[in-house]
Amino acid sequence: MSQRHRAVVLGATGTVGQKLVHLLRDHPSFEVAAVAASERSAGRSYRDAVHWMEPGSPPEAVANLIVQTVDDDFDCDLAFSALGSSVASVVEPRLAAAGIPVVSNASALRMDPATPLVVPEVNPDHLELSQFPSVGAPIVTNPNCATVGLVMVLKPLHDAFGINAVHVTTLQAVSGAGYPGLSALDILGDAVPFIPGEEEKLCTEPLKILGRRRGGRIEPASMTISAQTTRVPVLDGHLLCVSLRLRQAASPIEVAEELAAFRGRIAGLDLPSAPDNPITVLAGDEPPTPRRHAGAGGGMTVTVGRIRRCPVHDIRLVALVNNTVRGAAGAAILNAELMVKRGLIGASATEARKAS
Ligand SMILES: NC(=O)c1ccc[n+]([C@@H]2O[C@H](COP(=O)([O-])OP(=O)(O)OC[C@H]3O[C@@H](n4cnc5c(N)ncnc54)[C@H](OP(=O)(O)O)[C@@H]3O)[C@@H](O)[C@H]2O)c1
Repeated sequence: MSQRHRAVVLGATGTVGQKLVHLLRDHPSFEVAAVAASERSAGRSYRDAVHWMEPGSPPEAVANLIVQTVDDDFDCDLAFSALGSSVASVVEPRLAAAGIPVVSNASALRMDPATPLVVPEVNPDHLELSQFPSVGAPIVTNPNCATVGLVMVLKPLHDAFGINAVHVTTLQAVSGAGYPGLSALDILGDAVPFIPGEEEKLCTEPLKILGRRRGGRIEPASMTISAQTTRVPVLDGHLLCVSLRLRQAASPIEVAEELAAFRGRIAGLDLPSAPDNPITVLAGDEPPTPRRHAGAGGGMTVTVGRIRRCPVHDIRLVALVNNTVRGAAGAAILNAELMVKRGLIGASATEARKAS
């Protein structure tokens, strides 16, 4: 087996950080060599610091690591960041400047014009932006957890028919708020139609991801998106109720065929975390639900159902995305796998940066 790249997981004790540690267990290309979190956890073994919520126990090799602070220096080939936005905005550029490529879940730099915001099946060419960091190593971001599900659906339909307008209403799981997240008393037996900052992300991030790369910049896609977001008492899996106005007429059957045929722009690259089918379309009236479909494709497949005509726009459908896997940790790992393929992580990338 080829040597694995040594990774530090930043925010390793949180919801996304734990999912990274869990998914990176036995990964063919990456090993978790260091973990970092807040002062609350630093200095303790990972086993003692983490409130583990993944199945089983933390992997033995990680459980024995001593949690570092994010201000430390790391002897690593890359950093997976699962930090909150304000901390990430300071820590990620510092590590990149020190020559460590950063693969980030945080929103801090997603809309920065020089930072790629990538879903490998949708816009792998946007990684090219990171060929030209002004200093140090690249920072590559993945989108908001609901945005990923939306762009996976929009991409094949925008390519086939063109999309003018999108309205999306979400029903989002509590794991999307991190740990400990909402108090049980604020969500059990209730639904909360307000998630701070979420609607803005859903309205802007897809336009960058679906945008065209022109040299060193992205020209955003021209469509209008309206979003309403709701927190519901579900553990994992965000539902998106979407209605679309198309540029070219299409029937529900044609829409279903385009979605089911979607393989994305990394088909054939053999990336370990890429699912065989990025999208699964359910037949007839069967609805996607968090409990039944959040695990599809190991959490990396978006499940779509209830495709029908819309009397206001043209087409309505419901999509389900696993927010902590495809929407966060799995998305970051898939981005890192693509970065390895493109020579942005590893010894040759480090040598190239030193020489430039
Ligand atoms: N949850 C999701 O479904 C999801 C999806 C997509 C993107 N994201 C993004 O991913 C990031 C992490 O989210 P999360 O849900 O995992 O949050 P979380 O459960 O609250 O975890 C936050 C992590 O950051 C660490 N941390 C907090 N304050 C810190 C500080 N001042 N310095 C250093 N480390 C600090 C925490 O360490 P301690 O345990 O030591 O406090 C913990 O490891 C966020 O940017 C979020 O927006 C989350």
